[in-house]
Amino acid sequence: MERRELRGHYDGLAAEYDEHWVYGPEYVPWMSGQIAEALRLGPADRIADIGSGTGLFARELASQVQPSRPILCVDPSEAMLRGLGTPPPPELTPVVATAEDVAEGQVRLPYPELDAIWLKESVHHVVDPAHTLRGLADRLAPGGRLLIVMLPATIRYPLFKAALARFEELQPDPALIEGHLRRAGLETRLGHVEHELRIDRDRYLGMVRARYMSLLSTFSETEIDEGVEEIRTAHPESVLVFPDRFAFVLGRRAEENA
Ligand SMILES: C[S@@+](CC[C@H](N)C(=O)[O-])C[C@H]1O[C@@H](n2cnc3c(N)ncnc32)[C@H](O)[C@@H]1O
Repeated sequence: MERRELRGHYDGLAAEYDEHWVYGPEYVPWMSGQIAEALRLGPADRIADIGSGTGLFARELASQVQPSRPILCVDPSEAMLRGLGTPPPPELTPVVATAEDVAEGQVRLPYPELDAIWLKESVHHVVDPAHTLRGLADRLAPGGRLLIVMLPATIRYPLFKAALARFEELQPDPALIEGHLRRAGLETRLGHVEHELRIDRDRYLGMVRARYMSLLSTFSETEIDEGVEEIRTAHPESVLVFPDRFAFVLGRRAEENA
């Protein structure tokens, strides 16, 4: 998808985004806890959430970790960033920029270095991940951590077949992302976390119609209608149960005296 179309996709989705993603009340606290643990976040850390969207996870992390300085929520979509609140709460600072802008020093951040950066489900929007992840790794302080949270190369969502196939075509492989972090000079680790989702079928069909995943924007209205019918036939049950599995690709910069 072109950058302009992508921004349009998220600008259009922004108002309903949190509703789509709050599958259940336990999902955001669970995922945020996993991120905090993987990054070993502490209150003294200078933190950035790159591709933060509406700040759904940054908000929860701020309440779990209580950082002494605001979490930077970086996103190119102003509409998504408005989801932080107007005005944004003191624990979150919106920054209208792309991952590329941060990596290339095109945007001035309030912190000269960062102790922890995460990108959750935004790395697939980065055009040249090797180059951009190297630039982000260079923004880390000694001992700093960079976490990429992404869907694995294949998913078991109850989507229609053509959508699952297109997902596999478009999704970068987490092992490649780990390679980029390693070549950027970080010590790396690739792990996975999993959570069982239970969602009312009609609600899920509504999310598919609203193109809750950017990949669904690559299908026409007719294709989406046909896809929804395909899902309805394949899943007569009223509640869909499926695993939401994420790759956690972690990189850590060595301490200076190491
Ligand atoms: C699927 S959403 C994920 C939002 C949030 N991280 C979450 O998990 O709820 C992807 C986000 O990436 C943002 N995005 C798109 N291109 C980007 C880029 N080049 N750099 C950083 N973020 C980007 C979009 O505006 C959108 O808010």
